[in-house]
Amino acid sequence: MKRFDLSVVGELNADLILYGLPPTLEPEREHLASDFAITLGSSSAIFAHNISLLGSRVGFTSCIGSDPLGKFCVERLLESGVDVSGVKTLSGKTTGVTVIVPFARQRQILTYLGTTLDLQFAHLDLNYLRSASHFHLSSFFLLRALRPSIPDLFLQMKKSGLTTSLDTNDDPEDLWADDVKSVLKNVDIFLPNEREACKLTGTGDVQSALDALSRLVPIVVIKCGPAGAISRRGKDQFHASPLSVQPVDTVGAGDSFNAGFLHKFILRANLDDCLEYGSAMAALSTTRAGGTEAFRDRQHRETFLQRYARAN
Ligand SMILES: Nc1ncnc2c1ncn2[C@@H]1O[C@H](COP(=O)(O)OP(=O)(O)OP(=O)(O)O)[C@@H](O)[C@H]1O
Ligand SMILES: [Mg+2]
Repeated sequence: MKRFDLSVVGELNADLILYGLPPTLEPEREHLASDFAITLGSSSAIFAHNISLLGSRVGFTSCIGSDPLGKFCVERLLESGVDVSGVKTLSGKTTGVTVIVPFARQRQILTYLGTTLDLQFAHLDLNYLRSASHFHLSSFFLLRALRPSIPDLFLQMKKSGLTTSLDTNDDPEDLWADDVKSVLKNVDIFLPNEREACKLTGTGDVQSALDALSRLVPIVVIKCGPAGAISRRGKDQFHASPLSVQPVDTVGAGDSFNAGFLHKFILRANLDDCLEYGSAMAALSTTRAGGTEAFRDRQHRETFLQRYARAN
């Protein structure tokens, strides 16, 4: 038996979330938030934290600076049961941070990438990554030093017999260059959101994006915010409606979706069950601040999971 169910490579930083700010911010005025949360941030870390709390065994690889925010992030991962022996501390460097200002429909997201920019191929222990049955990478466009090596990394993982998944997340430069497509050759499950899927394929609607991506990847899952998610494997297409919840915010909903989907995939569940569970875990994440607080509260998480199990 392998040491881990999955190896995760990606960014590791904190989210600072300010609630209740006015939608228009005037320069030089002091705007007061009504609430504030510091939570574990970054797509790959939210994903690793939440899938670990669902019961998967996770080995995590990333880097942080030698600073309190880096320590905070690692502590949060440790509390969730993630193995952090693949996290390198880079002395003299600063851990990244994202400031999020959620509004009713949209949010402002401001990121300082910090050590996300420094993660490189030399930091990876390939034998550690191979000691899992599945490999996942998040935030392709933010990992600038690692990016040229990512196609080969996926090839290596496939050659070693792991199944693989990718969530690129947004491209801050909005260029959507073709190197992602060379990664997709060795991706089994691709998990973009609707905007990302359309941008990558140069299409204007989600169905065309799904059609185009399913010619490149065996399983495509497109997350469509409050419209739920759709998935395609070959000719089979599935849709999952979102659960009805009153969201505190939707930070990390996509990463929590990935956690639910891949937790079931690793257990060899049917695709429609993976999709349903992904939607449920995305809904759970919206019930508390940030992407991990709803999972961190054990009683809240278990009550939600029991209610979900009874309904299915
Ligand atoms: N308002 C909502 N109510 C219920 N579920 C929601 C809501 N918004 C999002 N979700 C769930 O979260 C899933 C993922 O959301 P979304 O499409 O925003 O992903 P994303 O853009 O990748 O998110 P992230 O910001 O984490 O990268 C959706 O497929 C849906 O199941
Ligand atoms: Mg996303």
